[in-house]
Order: sequence, then C-alpha cells, then structure tokens
Amino acid sequence: MTALVILPTFNEAGNLDWILDRLAASVPAAHVLVVDDASSDGTGDLADRRAADDPRVHVIHRAGKLGLGSAYIAGFGWGIEHGFDTLVEMDADGSHPPESLPAMLALHEGGRADLVIGSRWVPGGSVVNWPRSRQLLSRAGNAYARFMLRLAVKDVTAGFRVYSASDIAAMDLDGVDSKGYCFQVDMTLRLLDAGGRVVEHPIEFRERERGESKMSRAIVVEAMMRVTLWGVQRPFRRAAPPRS
Ligand code: GDD
Ligand code: MN
Repeated sequence: MTALVILPTFNEAGNLDWILDRLAASVPAAHVLVVDDASSDGTGDLADRRAADDPRVHVIHRAGKLGLGSAYIAGFGWGIEHGFDTLVEMDADGSHPPESLPAMLALHEGGRADLVIGSRWVPGGSVVNWPRSRQLLSRAGNAYARFMLRLAVKDVTAGFRVYSASDIAAMDLDGVDSKGYCFQVDMTLRLLDAGGRVVEHPIEFRERERGESKMSRAIVVEAMMRVTLWGVQRPFRRAAPPRS
C-alpha cells in the first residue's frame, strides 16, 4: 500500500518544515505532494528544497491562488498518474495531526471504509484554540449540510481525509467547480452516491499558530449556496446501490 499525502499550501512557510517532519515521523512510508499556489512567502522554494533532499517529497507549482478544491484535484490527478493507491488530504498548517494518520490509514486499509474522515465533531474529537465564532460557524455549517443533504456525516466540511485512488479515478472531477470548503461536501456526496462507505475517526483539530487562515466570507457564501442547491436537486438524483 502506498499513500500520497496531498498538502495544499498558500503562504505556509512558517509551517511547512514542521508538518513535513511530523509526517515523516508518523507515516514514514508515505509520499507527500505539496501543491503550492505561487505563495509570496517562499513556501514554494522551501518545498522544492525539501523535495531535493527527500525522494518521498514532491511539489506542484501553480501560477496563482486557484482555490483549495482545484489544488486537490490537481493533486489527485498527479497521485493517480504516479500509481498511488491511497490519497490523503491534509491541511499544511498543523491543524490536522499527522499522528492520527496511522489509525486513519489502518481503518481504510482494513476495508471498513472507502473514505475515512478525521473528524472534529464525533465523540472523542475536539477543537483547540478556535474562537467561539468559528466553532459555531463550523457546527452550524455542518448541521445545515446534514439537514439539506440528509447526511449522517458529522464533519462533512473536514479537510483531513483518506480516499482510495480507484474511487477518485472513477469520479468525473472535471465537473467539480467547488472552490472552498464546499469541495469537501461535494466529494462526500460523490462518494456516497457511488455507494462508498464513510467512517469518521475522532481527531484533535488545533488552530494554526503561524500564518493566517484563508477562510473568507466568499468561501462561506459559496458553501451555503451550493449546499442549498444540492439539497434541492438531490432527491431527484438516483444513488447507486451500496457496494457489497
Ligand atoms: N494551494 C492552495 N490554494 N492551498 C490553499 C488555498 C488555495 O487557494 N486556500 C487554502 N489553502 C491551504 C492552506 O495553506 C492550508 O494548508 C489548507 O489549505 C487549509 O487552509 P486554512 O486557511 O488553514 O483553512 P481553515 O483552517 O480556515 O479551515 C479549516 O476548516 C475547514 C472547514 O471547517 C480547514 O481544515 C479546511 O480544510 C476545512 O474545510
Ligand atoms: Mn487552518
């Protein structure tokens, strides 16, 4: 089993070394792909330096800030092309603990789940150092998505995930234009509609100590609009029968 951890970065120079070191310690066999969107703080150069020193580190440079969703799609495509069978999504700012990955990969490998989500909002999961306003936003956003989309997933916007490359290769991702956090909701719907099973593994989500969040009002509005639209359209879309 070879896993590729995809790390989208936009101005994460203060975090990249630290997160790559923790990944190497926690999942030494995994490869890492940094997808950098022309960060102005030198993240791209830092990633190149790490890649030159370590054959398990790879970098894609993109021309500008094209959004989280398209960064992951670029990373998925690269991973599939290079023959990885497991594709991991993770933030580069230290919010997602690499130390949780061995357990998440084991759940996925054990065949109990087609998608393992590192979840803040299941028993045992937690959030550290998030302002109350951001916690409320995440809880309300998840509650709204669960209601509109009739989902059982508790943390459907989570960006810490383990997928099978084969499931992603079977999706037509050209049609995905979700840019922000709703990309995660979009992917979850696609996986469930294809008959995939989702398991949430509790994690401690820790707010970044360095750099800034790229969260914006536009990202929240996009998520609200798309979730509402999917919620209205969804009853008319036929789900695939569950896989055996
Ligand atoms: N390449 C690229 N391009 N990377 C990006 C972009 C982009 O346009 N926007 C953000 N990133 C990277 C950041 O550098 C970081 O590594 C990761 O994506 C997450 O971005 P943050 O800005 O730290 O997100 P957050 O902490 O506010 O949001 C968290 O919660 C969301 C849902 O509640 C993250 O965990 C999200 O993944 C999650 O969906
Ligand atoms: Mn963050």
